[in-house]
Amino acid sequence: MRFGIRSKDAVAVTLLTFLVVATTTMVHISQLTRVVIQEASGQAQLVAKQIYAQIGQVLTRAPGRPPLEALRRDRELRNLLESSVGYSPHLVYAFVSDGGGAALLDTRRDREGAPALEPGRLDELLGLGTIRRFSALYRSGETYETVLPMNLNGQPFATIHLGVSTTLLRKELNASVGRSLTLAVIALPLAWLAAMALAQLTLRPLRALGGELDRLRRGEFDVGASLGGGNEFQELSSQLQRLGQEMQADRTATLSEKAQLEHIVDQLEDGVIFLNTDQRILFFNRAAAAAVGRPLEQVVGTPLAEVLPQDHPLCELMAENGMGTAAPHNRTLAFPQDGTTREFLVSIVAMRDKSRAMGAAILMKDLDSIKTVQSLVSYSAKLAALGRLTSGVAHEVKNPLNAMMIHLELLKERLEAPSAEVQQSLEVIGSEIHRLDRVVQGFLRFMRPQELVLKTIDVNGLLRNLTALIEAEWQGEGIRIACELDPTLPPVGADEELLRQAFLNMLQNAGQAMPKGGTVTIRTTCHGRDVVRVDIADEGVGIARDDLERVFKLYYTTKPEGTGIGLSVAYRIVQLHDGAIEVDSELGRGTTMTVRLPAR
Ligand SMILES: Nc1ncnc2c1ncn2[C@@H]1O[C@H](COP(=O)(O)OP(=O)(O)OP(=O)(O)O)[C@@H](O)[C@H]1O
Ligand SMILES: [Mg+2]
Repeated sequence: MRFGIRSKDAVAVTLLTFLVVATTTMVHISQLTRVVIQEASGQAQLVAKQIYAQIGQVLTRAPGRPPLEALRRDRELRNLLESSVGYSPHLVYAFVSDGGGAALLDTRRDREGAPALEPGRLDELLGLGTIRRFSALYRSGETYETVLPMNLNGQPFATIHLGVSTTLLRKELNASVGRSLTLAVIALPLAWLAAMALAQLTLRPLRALGGELDRLRRGEFDVGASLGGGNEFQELSSQLQRLGQEMQADRTATLSEKAQLEHIVDQLEDGVIFLNTDQRILFFNRAAAAAVGRPLEQVVGTPLAEVLPQDHPLCELMAENGMGTAAPHNRTLAFPQDGTTREFLVSIVAMRDKSRAMGAAILMKDLDSIKTVQSLVSYSAKLAALGRLTSGVAHEVKNPLNAMMIHLELLKERLEAPSAEVQQSLEVIGSEIHRLDRVVQGFLRFMRPQELVLKTIDVNGLLRNLTALIEAEWQGEGIRIACELDPTLPPVGADEELLRQAFLNMLQNAGQAMPKGGTVTIRTTCHGRDVVRVDIADEGVGIARDDLERVFKLYYTTKPEGTGIGLSVAYRIVQLHDGAIEVDSELGRGTTMTVRLPAR
């Protein structure tokens, strides 16, 4: 059984009270004993003196008679002895002995003539220590004497003996001792009650403190203000308030850091699951939920082995040595997903703080996406190689084209008066050679190996330059340019020449879509400091819904003079910059091309 502070307090106070009461009772009883003995002794002395006086009178009344004989025969003296014993509460006998110690007159008749016994003296009891005196009194059946010797003519002649019984003394003492003990017995439960009440009173602030600490544990940080308890608790109360404020600030900071961290981890392409030492899920990101093929929101705090089927490769890997120091690293595992499997590269990182295990992090890399990236890389490498090859071939085509052009002009000059049919054929050959030339040029542009020269580019500035260039050309055609450029636009990392080419192609398309003139609006906006957005909107002919998909395809054109290369080049350039391009259009109302580029 454990005692609380309240019980301990009460026991201590009660013990103290007991000690005080016991000591004072002992002192009191000791005093009482002394007083009772003193009183008895005083009374006995008084009686002895009366007897002494009576003996004196006897001797004077009978001069000439042997004094001892006179005493033995004196009836008054005998009466005095007997009445003294009869009236005294303590005396049990009285006798007068002769010089030899034999009893002359004795209230106990049978003892007369017999030699007197010599019990202890009553006044000697007063000289004893408390305990010995007390035990002498409580030894049953003891008798102590008060004696008064008498001289006659300077010689010891007789002795008066008065016997005081301890049994009688005790009877008197017991009444007083009984009262003292009763008081002591009453004092103890009273002391207990008082101590409990006192403890209750002193513990109240402590209990209030406990309550405040409980609130603090529950996350209620406005603690300490309600703590009463006087000056002693004032300092404690303000310390508690400070502690609450500090904990609140810490909690806020931790939560915001945690939220930031969770946000960052959530953005990762790799799946991450944090487990505690019991392999319970603490945190996971979206990629992890996608990897294991089930939502994990509901299972935070549940052991991983209960969330996934027993035969899931991740469970088997954890069972192997998940939390150990030699945790598995870069294992290729096939996770079941919608009836098929998907390969992941899985590593488990054990987390430790000094030598203490804190848990583990499971990292899952989607091998399929790595393969896609790898194939993309090899694809663009192939494309670059193909580009170099085709530009060589195109060169070989361009040179003969040039030669054909020159020779066609020469032929025209040499034929002095060609017939109308010949003239027409020459024109057709000429325009087809031109067309071929344009196609080859466009093809060259599209296939040019794109090695980006990235610089920090101010997109607003680049668009302003382009506008200045184009405006002059468009003035005659009734086309106006309206610029709505966001001055807070962050810069982008881009190849300036390529980016200019992409926007130029889109602007040219916008102008060409408005044969009757109109306004081209160039608008820049930034999206959350991460993305720069450029809209090029015209009021032209628009694009039919079914054709929207085709506009970025190479060689798709609806224009008689078009090559269908402009937008596909723009698309490729934007893609090379990790951006995106979209088209939104309505027939007869206009088209908006939207480009999004990552801000630097
Ligand atoms: N702003 C626009 N408004 C209407 N249609 C458009 C617009 N931009 C593009 N298109 C359509 O998309 C097609 C493809 O455009 P793209 O720029 O690739 O080729 P093009 O302009 O026809 O030829 P070029 O190679 O000379 O640019 C256009 O022929 C046109 O039909
Ligand atoms: Mg075009």
